[in-house]
Amino acid sequence: MDTAASAYPYLQAEHTPVLNESEAAPCRVEGELPQDLFGTFARNSPNPRFEPLGRYHWFDGDGMVHAVSVKDGKATYRARWLRTEGLRAEEEAGKALFTGILEKPRPGAPGPLKDTANTDLVWHNGKLLGLWWLSGTPCAVSLPGLEPLGPERFGNKLPRGMAAHAKVDAASGELMFFEFSLFKPPFYRYGVVSKTGELVSCEPIDVVGPRIPHDIAITPRFTVLLDLPLGWDVAALAAGKRKIGFDRESPARIGVIPRHGKGTEVRWFQIEPCYAYHTVNAYEDGPNVCLVGCAIDDPIPQVPKENTDGPMLDNIALVPTLRKWTMNMETGAVKQETLDDTPSEFPRTNEAIQGQKVRFSYHGRLARKPTLMFDAVLKYDLAKARHDTIPVPAGWYAGEPSFAPRVNAKDEDDGYIVTVITNALQDQSEFWVVDAKTLSTVARARLPRRIPIGFHSTWVSGV
Ligand SMILES: [Fe+2]
Repeated sequence: MDTAASAYPYLQAEHTPVLNESEAAPCRVEGELPQDLFGTFARNSPNPRFEPLGRYHWFDGDGMVHAVSVKDGKATYRARWLRTEGLRAEEEAGKALFTGILEKPRPGAPGPLKDTANTDLVWHNGKLLGLWWLSGTPCAVSLPGLEPLGPERFGNKLPRGMAAHAKVDAASGELMFFEFSLFKPPFYRYGVVSKTGELVSCEPIDVVGPRIPHDIAITPRFTVLLDLPLGWDVAALAAGKRKIGFDRESPARIGVIPRHGKGTEVRWFQIEPCYAYHTVNAYEDGPNVCLVGCAIDDPIPQVPKENTDGPMLDNIALVPTLRKWTMNMETGAVKQETLDDTPSEFPRTNEAIQGQKVRFSYHGRLARKPTLMFDAVLKYDLAKARHDTIPVPAGWYAGEPSFAPRVNAKDEDDGYIVTVITNALQDQSEFWVVDAKTLSTVARARLPRRIPIGFHSTWVSGV
């Protein structure tokens, strides 16, 4: 991509898209990949298949899955676009048909925005689901081959869509999800899918208005919802324009709903104004439901973005701190604590125990760069509100880390931190395996090519 479109920051340097897919290709390993590491690391990345029409936002690109499968001490790389309906239409046309979120739709476009499935990856019921931040149809692929399995509508019962960051309870196999709309009520729904893929419930939730929720969290009995005041800018909307704004005066709320509860059963807790893209984990503790997440106090600062100290997503500043909210289900009281002020994002935990009181989480440390990338991986000990740092070499930047349990793991951090790091100048990427207890790097597998810094990743054991 070497036309004017490549001028956009999320099409350059570490974010430069790749031009094609990749069949299974071996990776050259430095060090030794452990014999007790067996599974696939998969990362979803926005990667436009065609030259964008107009201004490009990082959230616009077609979802591409980059996967590194590890077995018997060998690593194999594959990559494939998620073949959404929108991408199929564009491939038939041989060009982009949809504009992105910064432009108005073009006449004749198949829809206002392309559902790209580009945000998150969730392994459920034997399928890897590509999910979209703005709520879309899950796009299923197989592992390790990344073969397309088509749209996943759960027996055609999904009423509208599913947002990114659905959560799987490893104990029950259930998938908890939410979806939202900025245009049509209901503005928010919460649902549950069974272990075998049946839609169990999908309840409208009475939120403050059309907003942009991005994550939820689960406990064994409850699901925690976020109703935070990032949505349409009210003044701009009154002037007939649509842009995203943060309304400090509008309520910021955390909702706690029984996992299989009705929409009317949400218990709301009002909190200090903030926005949170990502939760770390939730858990039950006596009468309390606790939520840990990455919170941004001032997501749309009133200063020019060139003067902000950190990455930006268009007009949204990424300066999160690690925060804990304790909601007392008996008294209705909520307590807020900042656990650490190191800006970190894209938190992951050992997903086998998601929803229990985890002790460890793994985050990317935000580099002081204008775009989002990580210059270190952090391992948090949430019990002590402290972290250890796994540095990334100068010139290299990491994407989201994931936790890969050792085969027959014995405790929570018995396994490996895995991620892909990228060096734009050297045009290279590596898959890193770090011992999660000692934090020593066990192996680095050189990918056959550079891959862009992407969105979310996951580790799926045994495939
Ligand atoms: Fe996300």
